[in-house]
Amino acid sequence: MTTAEIQALDKAHVWHPFTPMAEWCAPEAAPLVIERAEGVWLYDTDGRRYFDGNSSIWTNLHGHRHPVITAAIREQLDRVAHVSFLGATHEPAARLAAELVALFPPDTLSRVFFSDDGSTAVECALRLAWQYWEWVGQPHRRTLIAFSGAYHGDTLGAASLGGIPVFAGTAGRLGLPVRHIEDVDALDALRPEEKRTVAAIIIEPLVQGAAGIRLWPAGLLRRLRAWCDAHDTLLIFDEVMTGFGRTGRLFAGDHEAVTPDFLCLAKGLTGGYSPLAATLTTRRVFQAFLGPATERRTFFYGHSYSGHPLGCAAALASLRLFRDHQVLEQLSPKISHLATALQHLRQRHPSLIRDVRQCGFIAGIEITPPTGHDPARRWGADICLAARPLGLLTRPIHNTLILMPPLCTSIQELDFALAALESAITRVLTPDATPGGFQLQPLPPEAL
Ligand SMILES: Cc1ncc(COP(=O)(O)O)c(C=O)c1O
Repeated sequence: MTTAEIQALDKAHVWHPFTPMAEWCAPEAAPLVIERAEGVWLYDTDGRRYFDGNSSIWTNLHGHRHPVITAAIREQLDRVAHVSFLGATHEPAARLAAELVALFPPDTLSRVFFSDDGSTAVECALRLAWQYWEWVGQPHRRTLIAFSGAYHGDTLGAASLGGIPVFAGTAGRLGLPVRHIEDVDALDALRPEEKRTVAAIIIEPLVQGAAGIRLWPAGLLRRLRAWCDAHDTLLIFDEVMTGFGRTGRLFAGDHEAVTPDFLCLAKGLTGGYSPLAATLTTRRVFQAFLGPATERRTFFYGHSYSGHPLGCAAALASLRLFRDHQVLEQLSPKISHLATALQHLRQRHPSLIRDVRQCGFIAGIEITPPTGHDPARRWGADICLAARPLGLLTRPIHNTLILMPPLCTSIQELDFALAALESAITRVLTPDATPGGFQLQPLPPEAL
């Protein structure tokens, strides 16, 4: 099919996520059609290539079409592509569960419940928490505490936990007993009878992604853990974005040596190759679900593709890459390089860049809209569009531009992405000025 034919078919029949469809389907709109990928590069149907600046929405770790992950999926495909996880198991899932729990201190996270994506990983954690409290005779523990600005996914339960009104959409809070707080101090301000009703506290550790890369102060995770222990309640870490190296350690909780009672993993779990999620929990929680089936101590939750063998095979290969290629060790100098580059970028454009926020290999560059600007104009989106012909694909969160490259990105590729972003910022915000700072290198040849 030609690019135009694909675009026409898509516009006629497809409904895209988080997308103003009137704009997408407008006659003049020409949606990007990606045909293939290699490493950190995505190629469109016209042969142009783009640096995958947000790791395909925070999923890709080792690059696209990595031979090790591709081979692992192919090998599994030759055995069985899919088999129900209800009433049967398979080697990739059993091995993956064992490898995941081995990443945590003994007697902490020891059980793995597989699901499909970040939203369902969170959904499982909150349902498990509620059911746990029922089984241990404390059904009054129903309140879920989440943070303002949080994003935990789109299913109705996960969306109810979210602290960004626009993402809750028409679902609102759906009557779920969710309480949003600004910071940990608010926990101490709860009345004693309120503290006794807390079922769980959920947080995106170290950094809130969808809030625009909002960083938590150091020590907050330890304080949260201490509060949960003191009040005998459960702590949920949503590491859907931060998990698997993005913050510079394998998990964000590692920075403060804090282990939660539930850990939600998805996105990078498979290296970004297929939908698979995992909710890890403790023996304490698991044991509450043990008992005669007649007592219905079963976790009545699961989907057709739970524990999908291809996803598990990809995840095992991704973990092997972390071990065999010292991915985290290699990442450390790149994180420092990114930090320096972001500071220089900000210094060069003090009037255009309001703030740069970085957590490991996750960066948010908040721009300052021009004074007297049209408040309806989406500057962040315009800058990301301007970055496209420069060979960079990413998305903004309002006026914050997200740069979250795959972990395998080289320093040279990182500089390319930064140069494209700087050029796009200056072109959109100061269209008459001549660009300075980074000099945009010509796009390396298509064949690279
Ligand atoms: C922290 C966090 N939790 C949950 C989700 C939802 O994940 P998914 O889109 O895979 O359902 C996201 C997605 O961006 C996320 O960033």
